[in-house]
Amino acid sequence: MSAEGGSASGGKIGIFDSGLGGLIILKEIIKKLPQYDYIYLGDNARTPYGNRSREVIYNFTEQAVDFLFKQDCQLIIIACNTASAEALFKIQNEWLPKNYPDRRVLGVIRPVVEKAIISGKKKVGIIGTKGTVNSHVYIEEIQNKKPQLEVLQQACPLLVPLVEEGWQKTDVTKRVLRTYLKPLKSAKVDTLILGCTHYPILFKEIQGIMGKRTKVLHSGEIVADSLADYLGRHPEIESKLDKNSQNIFYVTDLSSHYQKLGEEWFGKGIKFEKIDLK
Ligand code: DGL
Repeated sequence: MSAEGGSASGGKIGIFDSGLGGLIILKEIIKKLPQYDYIYLGDNARTPYGNRSREVIYNFTEQAVDFLFKQDCQLIIIACNTASAEALFKIQNEWLPKNYPDRRVLGVIRPVVEKAIISGKKKVGIIGTKGTVNSHVYIEEIQNKKPQLEVLQQACPLLVPLVEEGWQKTDVTKRVLRTYLKPLKSAKVDTLILGCTHYPILFKEIQGIMGKRTKVLHSGEIVADSLADYLGRHPEIESKLDKNSQNIFYVTDLSSHYQKLGEEWFGKGIKFEKIDLK
């Protein structure tokens, strides 16, 4: 099937991210639900989204989901926290009913919030990009469900570039992490949300700094469990999905650096196809 095409052959699950970090989430999803066909789209030519305005993030996200629906996706998971925070509500409530009323777009924030309100006793911490933190979406969702929880957040803009450089085990990254996490650790948060695609790569380091008293939530596993649960509750969507265990990976830029990241985060031999979203 060509990238421009869009035959009506069947239904895939689309996974969208601002770049390649969503591969970390997709890997967990495939581990849990290997039978389905997935189409990954990473807008790595325009990543990072984390410092961009809401308007730009919305426009990029709309282009991405439109592309994935044209590739026969029935259901799209926006794996990017920034796009989930800044664009998902409008996509679900305004764009989707007008354009693809029988298809679905889900984000990563709600399933993580549901876990956080179960795990959270007194204080929940959130780390994410500036976009995610400034949107206040996590705080609002948590406090709507469990107002007695105190919620603290910290933007960590240096973590994505450090992880993309493969520097997760270096002293520089540990120092940066300690600086970002200090206010959350001092406040004794009992639960910490990793509100960004890239942060599960730093899971051990983050858990090590926060200590055993803080439950660090692994967003990839949570999103995979929540998708399995969603498909169980929505047979009208599930029955439309192809089950050939075939995966396609689209990116908006391709270089040896991106190939290397894809192999590290998803697996050897990953084959990317370059497309244009504009
Ligand atoms: N995918 C983004 C997120 O989860 C991180 C990278 C970016 O800023 O685009 O928030």
